[in-house]
Amino acid sequence: MATERHFDFLILGSGIAGLFYAMKVAPHGSVGIVTKKHRAESNTNYAQGGIAAVTSKEDSVEMHLKDTLQAGAGLCNEAVVRTIVEEGPERVGELMQMGMEFSEREVPGADGEREFDLGKEGGHSKRRILHAKDATGRAIEAALLNAINAHDSVEWFEDHFAIDLITTEKLGVEGENRCVGVYVLNQLNGEVETFSAKTVLLATGGCGKVYLYTTNPDIATGDGVAMAYRAGVPVANMEFIQFHPTCLYHSKAKTFLVTEAVRGEGGIIKGIDGEAFMDRYHKLASLAPRDVVARAIDAEMKKTGSDSVHLDITDKPAKFIADRFPNIHQTCLKFGIDITREPIPIVPAAHYQCGGVLTDTSGRTDLAGLRAVGEVACTGLHGANRLASNSLLEAVVCAHQAAMEVVEKIGDHPDVEIPPWQTGNAHDADELVVVSHNWDELRRTMWDYVGIVRTTKRLQRAKTRIALLREEIQQYYWDFTVTSDLLELRNIATVADLIVSCALQRPESRGLHYTLDYPERNEEWAQKNTIVRREK
Ligand code: FAD
Ligand code: SIN
Repeated sequence: MATERHFDFLILGSGIAGLFYAMKVAPHGSVGIVTKKHRAESNTNYAQGGIAAVTSKEDSVEMHLKDTLQAGAGLCNEAVVRTIVEEGPERVGELMQMGMEFSEREVPGADGEREFDLGKEGGHSKRRILHAKDATGRAIEAALLNAINAHDSVEWFEDHFAIDLITTEKLGVEGENRCVGVYVLNQLNGEVETFSAKTVLLATGGCGKVYLYTTNPDIATGDGVAMAYRAGVPVANMEFIQFHPTCLYHSKAKTFLVTEAVRGEGGIIKGIDGEAFMDRYHKLASLAPRDVVARAIDAEMKKTGSDSVHLDITDKPAKFIADRFPNIHQTCLKFGIDITREPIPIVPAAHYQCGGVLTDTSGRTDLAGLRAVGEVACTGLHGANRLASNSLLEAVVCAHQAAMEVVEKIGDHPDVEIPPWQTGNAHDADELVVVSHNWDELRRTMWDYVGIVRTTKRLQRAKTRIALLREEIQQYYWDFTVTSDLLELRNIATVADLIVSCALQRPESRGLHYTLDYPERNEEWAQKNTIVRREK
């Protein structure tokens, strides 16, 4: 008998978006959390800099709004930005009630009084980043996981991989098309299980693994975007992939971010010859917006033929560095780099997906029964370039709004009978080398042709190659029993194609999308999202 499970609230993903939503819906019904690895493994767990929210007297909602709009290069939805920035402080307060502790400092000259130790990052006009030293995400993830333990209504499914959304349309049920569940691969026994639910939340995070070099952990394969797209849900603005300028460059470091907060505390980007070259590119120098810094580093590396540039914070006292950035200090020491005495070799790497499944601030998608929150979603907050530390903020605000709406209507949805997953004639794959080869080829193609600087010709080349790979992968998918490797490959290929399709639609350079064929902004595109939707 194939396994069937039923929940009121089904959540795919256990990063900040999934967990914050789980905390909110848990008192109102049964909750299933499906997550493809260990429950803490998520982009959230690696977030360093912190969460942007207006908490200081010197700051204001208007300033945070202005900085976000400025970074977003004319493509943010201002109403969405206002909602998220205004609601942010209250949701951050709730995070603290759930157990999150942010770093504090003594108020100078105020006799032991304490306040948040606010950090500063590129594009922010004020210090407004709440953080837990340089491992904020780990602290948030731990606090939320701990808080969820108090809810008996929550059932966990670790090592469970969501394959595809189940819709009434696919089942041939009449009436409004609705998401009624998900097919899920239990990676512990290889069985595909059926999860039905009254409402499904996609909180599957981003897609950094589409690129050869990324700050993201292995889970970030764009599964949610790919699943939604296959189900006919509109996806938007995928051309806006944010490259973080400062990823540690070391042959043994697979992926390790050096937070922008290092620059906020005085770190300077330099060429390997020691020149602080950012002055030549932007008036804010090392603290210029991320897209500018990443492009400048890319240009300098191409010009000098060097494999990396440097981030130098050695001007600061060693004690300050070790105390403010213990995670980075210790990690770099393991690779033989003492950041208190020598510069850190860094390179840009794919970091954040600004586009995603088209939603409003309550995660509502075009498909009834399906909401999307967190990095998987495109709400309009980030526009063409995300302001640093705005994503954790977006996740908590939107998870809250989504939860408030779904709990109100949860009783209204009838259960639908779902047939078990069909394996057909699928058998075990005999040539896994093909899968790993295609992984490499796809990620390299994206890095070489769809990276920081693009051209139409390179995008078209990438499109052709991705199409061939997708055909081969699809054949594999039909013929062989599914594995997480194959499913992820299918998803990164789909997402790669969506990124290229969106990039080809936009005949201008704006924010993170920079093409040599259209190096300027085209004001006709100022408020246009690039939307892709699977043809029926
Ligand atoms: P995630 O935290 O990525 O969680 C996704 C979850 O979905 C995971 O549990 C994953 O296993 C699961 N999942 C995915 N696919 C499937 C599937 N098919 N089946 C089952 N489960 C699945 N943002 C900030 O605002 N401030 C920062 O300081 C900051 N620093 C960052 C540092 C690094 C190194 C990185 C990589 C990102 C950083 N970001 C930061 C971005 C931010 O961390 C993410 O945007 C945010 O954490 C995303 O949260 P999420 O809940 O949407 O997704
Ligand atoms: C960082 O700490 O530099 C990452 C912040 C972010 O991506 O928002």
